[in-house]
Amino acid sequence: MSMAMDQDLEKVILSKEQLTDRVKELGLQLTKEFQDKQLIVVGILRGAALFMADLIREIDLPMEIDFMAVSSYGVATKSSGVVRILKDLDSTITGKDVLIVEDIVDSGLTLKYIVENLQSRKPNSIKICTLLDKPSRRVAGIDVQYNGFVIPDEFVVGYGLDYGEKYRNLPYIGVLKPEIYTT
Ligand code: IMP
Ligand code: MG
Repeated sequence: MSMAMDQDLEKVILSKEQLTDRVKELGLQLTKEFQDKQLIVVGILRGAALFMADLIREIDLPMEIDFMAVSSYGVATKSSGVVRILKDLDSTITGKDVLIVEDIVDSGLTLKYIVENLQSRKPNSIKICTLLDKPSRRVAGIDVQYNGFVIPDEFVVGYGLDYGEKYRNLPYIGVLKPEIYTT
């Protein structure tokens, strides 16, 4: 580790190499599964931006991309369950095959809201690809079809994931030292 931000980390749980390898595998899988589909990849800002940028370059298919931004946590570490659309899609998704790309599924409340909202626009299909899954914290019943890594119930940062808008640019994923959350 070399950056100043590293000093706030207690441990790295997913290295740059682990992330790269898994994103390649997911890309291969998605390339097979979305063959002959009208694929539109929808990234959920801002957390999924880094994962999505890497992932779509591993999907060897024609596609559209678009983004949505929703409010979930603010600066705290727990979901309120109240979701608001801050930025909607620019594209129409009617008749298309939507792949939602998320950074992490925690309670699942954010994705449940997004899926229900997008479903009302009559796409052909909606699938979810998340980099990280914390199934032990699930509240909402949602199907996640593609998942990078299952992780334990710890608050993580890096590779798009933030704490108070910091640490998104770390090239790996780690857990912050406990004192960082309280200061
Ligand atoms: P959910 O609605 O509880 O599933 O929360 C999903 C959103 O919460 C994710 O898109 C993240 O923005 C955020 N989140 C959940 N867990 C973490 C974490 O461990 N680190 C950083 N952000 C998280
Ligand atoms: Mg997010």
